[in-house]
Amino acid sequence: MEDKDNLMTEAWQLLKKSVLYYRGHPIGTVAAIEPGFNAINYDQCFIRDFVSSALAFLVVGEFEIVRNFLVETLKFQSHEPQMDSFAAGPGLMPASFKVVCQEDQEYLTADFGEHAIARVPPVDSCLWWLLLLRAYVKSTDDISLAHTAEFQEGIKLILEMCLVHRFAMYPTMLVPDGSFMIDRRMGVYEHPLEIQVLFYAALCAAKELLLSSENNANCLCRINQRLEPLTYHLREYYWINLNRLNEIYRFEGEEFGKEVANKFNIYADSIPAWLTEWLPDDGGYLAGNLGPGRMDFRFFAQGNLLAIITDLATKNESQQIMNLIESRWNDLIGYMPMKICFPALEGVEWRLITGCDPKNTPWSYHNGGNWPVLLWLLAAAAQKTNRLDIAHRAITIAEKGLKHDKFPEYYDGKNGRLIGKKSRKYQTWTIAGYIVAKEIISNPTHLKLFSFR
Ligand code: GLC
Repeated sequence: MEDKDNLMTEAWQLLKKSVLYYRGHPIGTVAAIEPGFNAINYDQCFIRDFVSSALAFLVVGEFEIVRNFLVETLKFQSHEPQMDSFAAGPGLMPASFKVVCQEDQEYLTADFGEHAIARVPPVDSCLWWLLLLRAYVKSTDDISLAHTAEFQEGIKLILEMCLVHRFAMYPTMLVPDGSFMIDRRMGVYEHPLEIQVLFYAALCAAKELLLSSENNANCLCRINQRLEPLTYHLREYYWINLNRLNEIYRFEGEEFGKEVANKFNIYADSIPAWLTEWLPDDGGYLAGNLGPGRMDFRFFAQGNLLAIITDLATKNESQQIMNLIESRWNDLIGYMPMKICFPALEGVEWRLITGCDPKNTPWSYHNGGNWPVLLWLLAAAAQKTNRLDIAHRAITIAEKGLKHDKFPEYYDGKNGRLIGKKSRKYQTWTIAGYIVAKEIISNPTHLKLFSFR
């Protein structure tokens, strides 16, 4: 057997070992199993982390664990109007949950972020949950679970929370800092790309999953009203390539009125020095964030790759994103696919934006670290854009490191050469991400789980 077959076998063994059982049934996977390491909350099942595991199970036809997960996590959803300002509001899904045993009975308890460092609300959980439900329906060809009264109510509760009209006058969703995979202060508040792409995909999923009944008519109507401007807004205003950069560079500032070119009052001086040289002629990407007087020019991998996979990015934009990844290989792939965001915040920016976070020092963890879980998104984006050479190259690189390094959570350094300073080994989504990447490369039909065109 070749080394890479061995690695796949080992990955499956480890993934099976990470399965969490509840009253005798599989319901999720724990975040990491590293013997001898203080687990903190890595012995819990995180909703976002489980998505990678779930995909691995779905593509090989193991549906039960995913179904149980969807059913049990839906029960956590709070239904009560928020009386206590410190409790989760209706619709919110937890970041993670665990099984506790009391007097020989097993119970589930959830963490909505109230235990998490800095009390960050996991906005992405309910969006991932919707996407996973839709992937489950696609792979089982069975929509009956999604059509049950509980699930229809759950879907609507999520939408009510996300679609509520607050102060914003954008179609994007306003969120606090660190409300997703990057769950620490990183200047990803307001309208971060990662959340907006998930929001777009969750709306597409809900549109398919909601029964067209009188009861759902209002909700479906609001989805349609939001989806179109949201898609336009992201494609039009988040997009950056050389042409667009030239436009921004020559923008007028301080324009008053409705019909203005520089709608968000972005000043040319805010274009970072690195970008002009870094952007290849034929490359482009969706910016990390957009708000009043603010464009975050950092490249965020999950949002860009997910935009390709879910069809938010046009075909042409998708090719340009892949061109960028190929041209900036050392920066974005390096020794381990792939960089979570580029470039890192350094010096005074790091002090002010992260609040001097010692875990998010430049080129570490969320601040420019390399995360192998992103491999499956990269492989899927490559499959989707017919750029398989990129996927094969990336998987070969990942295979070299992962086995030897025992499937770490993340890597540090400009090119991801060092195992992350505080990184766990045997991180489940690293393991599952590798399996899913391999499966997607060998079978393009799996793309249907996440495609919306
Ligand atoms: C860290 C990551 C988060 C992940 C969790 C469990 O908190 O920032 O994205 O879900 O670990 O792996």
